[in-house]
Amino acid sequence: MKYLPIAKELFIENRKRFAARLKPGSVAFFNSNDEMPRNGDGNFAFRQHSDLFYLSGIDQEQSLLVISPDCPLPQYREILFLRRTNATIAIWEGHKYSKEEALQASGVKTVIWIDEMEAVLTILMNHASNVYLNLNENDRFSSQVPYRELRFANDLKLRNPAHQYERSGPILSELRSLKSDEELKQMQIAIDITEKAFRRVLAFTQPGVTEYEIEAEIIHEFIRNRATGHAYNPIIASGSNANVLHYNENNQICKDGEVILMDFGAEYANYAADLTRCIPVSGKFTPRQKEVYNAVLRVMRGATKMLIPGNTIEKYHVAVGKMMEEELIGLGLLNKVDVAKQDPDAPLYKKYFMHGTSHFLGLDVHDIGNRYLPMKAGMVFTCEPGIYIPEEGLGIRLENDILITSNGQTDLMSAIPVEVSEIESLMKRA
Ligand code: GLY
Ligand code: MN
Ligand code: MN
Repeated sequence: MKYLPIAKELFIENRKRFAARLKPGSVAFFNSNDEMPRNGDGNFAFRQHSDLFYLSGIDQEQSLLVISPDCPLPQYREILFLRRTNATIAIWEGHKYSKEEALQASGVKTVIWIDEMEAVLTILMNHASNVYLNLNENDRFSSQVPYRELRFANDLKLRNPAHQYERSGPILSELRSLKSDEELKQMQIAIDITEKAFRRVLAFTQPGVTEYEIEAEIIHEFIRNRATGHAYNPIIASGSNANVLHYNENNQICKDGEVILMDFGAEYANYAADLTRCIPVSGKFTPRQKEVYNAVLRVMRGATKMLIPGNTIEKYHVAVGKMMEEELIGLGLLNKVDVAKQDPDAPLYKKYFMHGTSHFLGLDVHDIGNRYLPMKAGMVFTCEPGIYIPEEGLGIRLENDILITSNGQTDLMSAIPVEVSEIESLMKRA
């Protein structure tokens, strides 16, 4: 791991909070992610399952965490099953956790090699009535690939049909959406690394550079600061490419007169940053570009103020839509009379601003959290309005990461340049 170790108290506390939510007589299982096959004998880079990481800090494949607070055998109330390492694995793949290291990382006192799991599993199941399974409950998840948690769940249910099965998903969604101080510290590191990369890009960009050269500057800055890499596929979209919302080609030349939309964020200690900035290739915005940019900036500032305890995503999106409507009328893109007559279920602003304004952020870039409950202090949301005008070859989005506090919010990206004057001055060459 490139990141510095996180004190195990975070994971001990997370397990305590999770265990407190279980029904009496329960056992909960958390599997690591699969090592995803690529081609031939190659795998994609391993990324730990965010829930397993949240509850244990263990960042290694083929791991299983068990939480069973009422197990009559005290040593089995928390167990980590880990891959048994040996000399061959050490030579080919490198170091794996020893039992002592796993204890130091997680605070889990009972560490057992995973090839010895069967006998212990029998005991755990015999002394539990409820079994909590941890399936992917993301509303947008859709995959034909049977993942490790699903295979584990199917196998367990087949062999133990008389147990009562429960879902860990709703509990984790609530717990993980409320960030602790230690988590915020890790997220701020991811954000600070992202800021460094943005400043590097400001100094680097000029007419004739390619989108991939900008991407290369970003990853260089990420890795030299201990980030694992990108938290998601970076978007480096010059000119009209900015109007393709998930543009990832990043292969065009950035031309004088264009604006580049860049959406990127570092992943540090498995925590994500999520930033969007738009900069002029020449170092100076045209009056029209500035006008659109400042409209988006006003909406971002107005929307940020509405990320407060008690507000709901639904009400928030309606209010942001109203702000956006005003701005689009001001830019001459919408007409007041048409807006007054619009179908409220298909507001006209969606032609120029077709995505949501905010999502939860944390261990995943689109982090888990219940969108249908009121916002609470400790939640982190992005704030990312945009205006996309293909006919002008221009797309502007600005995105900051915002922490909700008990009396308002804190912009975790307030140090990252966003004003037109700041951007132009940082891009100015002697
Ligand atoms: N970068 C992904 C997003 O902004 O949602
Ligand atoms: Mn985002
Ligand atoms: Mn983004």
